[in-house]
Amino acid sequence: MNPRKIRDNIWAVGTIDWDRRLFDELIPLPEGTSYNAYLLKTAEKTVLIDTVDPPVQDQLLHNLELLEVEQLDYLVSNHAEQDHSGGIPAVLERYPEARVVTNPKCREMLIDHLHIAEDRFEVRDNGESLDIGGWTLQFHTAPFVHWPETQFTWLVEEKILFTGDFLGSHLATSDLYIENEAEVYVGAKRYYAEIMMPFRKMFGKYLDLIDDLGPELIASTHGPLYRHPAFILDAYRDWISDEVKNEAVIAYLSMHDSTAEMVHHLINALIDRDIRVKVHNLTDVDVGELAIDLVDAATLVLASPTVLVGPHPSAAYAALIANALKPKTRFGAIVGSYGWGGKMVEQLTALTGNLKLEWLDPVMVKGKARAEDFASLEALAEAVAARHREAGIL
Ligand code: FEO
Repeated sequence: MNPRKIRDNIWAVGTIDWDRRLFDELIPLPEGTSYNAYLLKTAEKTVLIDTVDPPVQDQLLHNLELLEVEQLDYLVSNHAEQDHSGGIPAVLERYPEARVVTNPKCREMLIDHLHIAEDRFEVRDNGESLDIGGWTLQFHTAPFVHWPETQFTWLVEEKILFTGDFLGSHLATSDLYIENEAEVYVGAKRYYAEIMMPFRKMFGKYLDLIDDLGPELIASTHGPLYRHPAFILDAYRDWISDEVKNEAVIAYLSMHDSTAEMVHHLINALIDRDIRVKVHNLTDVDVGELAIDLVDAATLVLASPTVLVGPHPSAAYAALIANALKPKTRFGAIVGSYGWGGKMVEQLTALTGNLKLEWLDPVMVKGKARAEDFASLEALAEAVAARHREAGIL
């Protein structure tokens, strides 16, 4: 893909990764992703903002050639993760005069992760600026979106904010700008759920900063650009708020149908009480979809058969994922079946300590559920409904 003009003397020079289906060998990307990089040219300086993942760095270098970049003065790094920084060594090799502009923490991480020579840096800390000849770049550190060194770069005169990963979407699309908000909403929510959610408490102040800057255009490193920033800023305000929705996520699997029978009874009991239910069978789950549903849900139910006294490993994995992503879920319940004994409730509870859930009474059944066990599931559904009513969402 050739460079795409954003404004006079500003181009998108990154790449679209149509085929990528997994990030960090963990995170599903069913719609692919992109690695966005941007080139700015003034009468005096040429500046590259971020690079791309190393396997596609030749496309970036080709785009710089197409734009006849003979000299690169500055390479701004907003984030040290390799999908944006991994191309820096190749760019520095091609442009030996280029200086890497970033904050002290990002400098440290780029040296550690990419072995970039210490004398290649020009450090700018929070609030500091760089004059690039008619235009001013202003740097705002924004730690933990989603690493400690992350920052935003503000092109003052053009009112463009380059946010690094923040507000991005995992979505391979030919659209440079958003054309289909519903499509981008899903990709952005996936990105938030999979990557950003553990740090949501920090984001309010970053959204306030962006409101104060008043960008006309937000250019993230993943997904299309936002010409109407309110779309994504409003979505983030919703996702990071402490408000939960009248939804129960049920993550389950079953070996001999005993647990499945209980789960299906519970699903119907919740529906009967006007609770939205999102069900994930863990035998074939996209953990990204699970993460997306955990963004808003008030309740999480983990359901599993007992394997060697504990939960099935797939249920333990779902618990670990939820624990790591730290959604705002308030209520939890454990449902399961065992043959002769076990510690599933204790183990799943211990695996989800980050969530600070109010645990409702578990329903653990020896073998196959009997009438009294289905009554316990009705009582569990009623307890969920009562909590949702108390929370004002039902
Ligand atoms: Fe897109 Fe944190 O890298």
